[in-house]
Amino acid sequence: MKKLFLLTILLATILFFTNTEELIAKHTYDDYEDPYVCMGCHFDIFKQWNASSMAKGMTNKFMQAQYFKLALPDGKADKKVEGVIGGCIGCHAPASFVVGDIPPETAEKNTPANRGVFCDFCHTITGMKGKMPFNFNYTIDPGKIKRGPFKDSISPHHDTAYSEFHTKAEFCGMCHDEVNPFDVKVKATYSEWKEGPYAKKGIQCQDCHMTPAGRLGDDGKPHYASGIVATGGPRREKYFTHRFPGAHTPGQIEGAIKLSVSADKETVAPGDTVTITIKLTNEKVGHMFPSGSSEERQLWLHLTATDQNRINHIPWKASKPNEPDAVYGITSNNPAYQGLEKNIKPGKKFDGFSRDALPEGDRLYHLFFEDPDGYLTLSQYYAVKIVYDNRLKPEETRVETYQWEIPSDIAKGEIFIDAKLNYRYMPQSFADYLEIGEIPIIEVAKKRLALSVR
Ligand code: HEC
Ligand code: HEC
Ligand code: HEC
Ligand code: HEC
Ligand code: HEC
Repeated sequence: MKKLFLLTILLATILFFTNTEELIAKHTYDDYEDPYVCMGCHFDIFKQWNASSMAKGMTNKFMQAQYFKLALPDGKADKKVEGVIGGCIGCHAPASFVVGDIPPETAEKNTPANRGVFCDFCHTITGMKGKMPFNFNYTIDPGKIKRGPFKDSISPHHDTAYSEFHTKAEFCGMCHDEVNPFDVKVKATYSEWKEGPYAKKGIQCQDCHMTPAGRLGDDGKPHYASGIVATGGPRREKYFTHRFPGAHTPGQIEGAIKLSVSADKETVAPGDTVTITIKLTNEKVGHMFPSGSSEERQLWLHLTATDQNRINHIPWKASKPNEPDAVYGITSNNPAYQGLEKNIKPGKKFDGFSRDALPEGDRLYHLFFEDPDGYLTLSQYYAVKIVYDNRLKPEETRVETYQWEIPSDIAKGEIFIDAKLNYRYMPQSFADYLEIGEIPIIEVAKKRLALSVR
């Protein structure tokens, strides 16, 4: 019975994802070495990787909750999405996918699935199938040969081979672009990069994410680490760090956007209308910001004016009330995501929860998916269309204007206009629903402008 279930899942995976028969169940966990073996000689790299999101690709609370509480029951109940039972694992715990450990045990069982995206998996990848990287279309050859960027590498523990593929964005794109069972591209970090200015300049994902700073220097160039990459190995002028900083690394988010504030007058009087202009430039991000799990990530601009008496919130207003910008581009606490439990509690009405769980009226940069029943959804595998996307493109400058009528009781003297761009990797309302705790808010950029009140 268990075998039959597994077979169905595998077939479904084959139908919905590009990667096929020859990978699955030809291998066992014994074909892969544990990261702790690599640690013995590659200690620094191990430490960097071990703290990264990819090491926690299967064990992090968000993945555990979304996979086991939502995706797995959805996949079992609905034929259209049954491919995700294996599909999620193809990227999040790829060795479990290729050995056919699908679905894997939960994290507390401590099986090899907990290795997530680990050393030996990446370093025994040989290439990709097809022309475009997406949906874990890797080809693999687990074993003695570890593939990497060096042409002259010698190791006492394993064979080595030069692999140009490992030095290119396509290597990353195999898991960082994702097409779901409804043919919607729900993750597109690679495509965003490919269509943007950095691909044209030849800057790869590795040149940002595998350098100590996690981004380019202010000179627009990558600055690599140098040193010894393995006990007994030579000193390398250039090597690639394994921190992979992203949405969970405050230092990667802070300062990624440059922000400026200006106003059409320096001196104002009660009752005046002042026009405030905010410019946001995506200076440091090699793809859109936010990217990846964009349906989760929240980026919002909060504007206030502080006088001696109080902090006035200045809301952002769309030029027309019913256009998408007004509906999706402004923070809202209206209930949303009512389709979330349709397979878990079939036939029972689910009221959803607060869409953004943020102060209302702020400018929001986000991507929203709609599910087959017309509800907004946070389950990317149920997205049938992208209803809105106003994220910041690489190197784009976005200009926002606010009209603010100065309150009649404003205090005379100085007022401070404060613009803050904030980031959170998922809505707190969804985190509460999944019972995974408090999600930190990170300040991306802020600027202050002083006006004087006559
Ligand atoms: C007994 C020590 C030792 C162990 C254990 C070890 N390595 Fe190495 N590895 C080395 C040395 C030494 C080099 C050469 C470093 C250099 O050339 O700068 C190396 C080089 C490499 C390279 C570069 C290959 C290239 O051609 O670019 C990769 C990739 C690599 N190791 C991966 C791994 C992985 C994955 C593991 C765990 C499965 C591992 N190593 C375990 C010692 C070790
Ligand atoms: C997500 C895939 C991935 C994982 C996981 C990963 N690596 Fe790498 N590693 C790479 C890539 C890609 C490069 C080469 C980057 C380039 O040259 O542009 C690399 C480079 C290396 C090198 C050559 C020296 C250097 O850093 O440039 C060694 C050694 C190495 N990795 C060992 C490890 C070990 C040990 C682990 C686990 C602790 C590990 N890698 C985990 C993808 C990975
Ligand atoms: C085998 C699939 C796979 C490959 C190959 C891969 N990644 Fe990842 N990567 C993942 C998964 C899965 C996550 C998300 C883990 C999580 O948080 O659940 C991730 C997370 C990340 C993050 C952190 C994002 C965050 O929100 O914190 C960065 C940055 C990243 N990867 C960069 C890269 C780069 C650069 C490469 C190529 C050198 C690469 N990845 C190759 C699967 C992969
Ligand atoms: C020019 C430097 C640069 C390049 C090139 C670059 N990134 Fe990033 N990346 C960043 C910065 C800065 C952030 C933090 C802002 C953010 O979260 O989008 C980031 C964030 C991310 C995240 C987290 C996204 C999120 O919002 O959850 C992932 C995943 C990622 N990058 C993967 C990649 C991959 C894959 C590539 C290549 C296809 C790549 N990056 C190319 C700079 C870069
Ligand atoms: C094609 C590869 C791929 C597939 C298939 C995939 N993911 Fe992911 N997933 C990623 C990558 C890459 C990231 C990191 C993106 C980012 O940081 O924004 C990610 C991020 C996530 C996150 C956010 C983790 C965090 O730490 O913020 C969750 C949760 C998640 N995936 C769950 C799932 C589930 C459940 C499925 C199956 C329905 C799935 N993923 C299918 C590649 C994939």
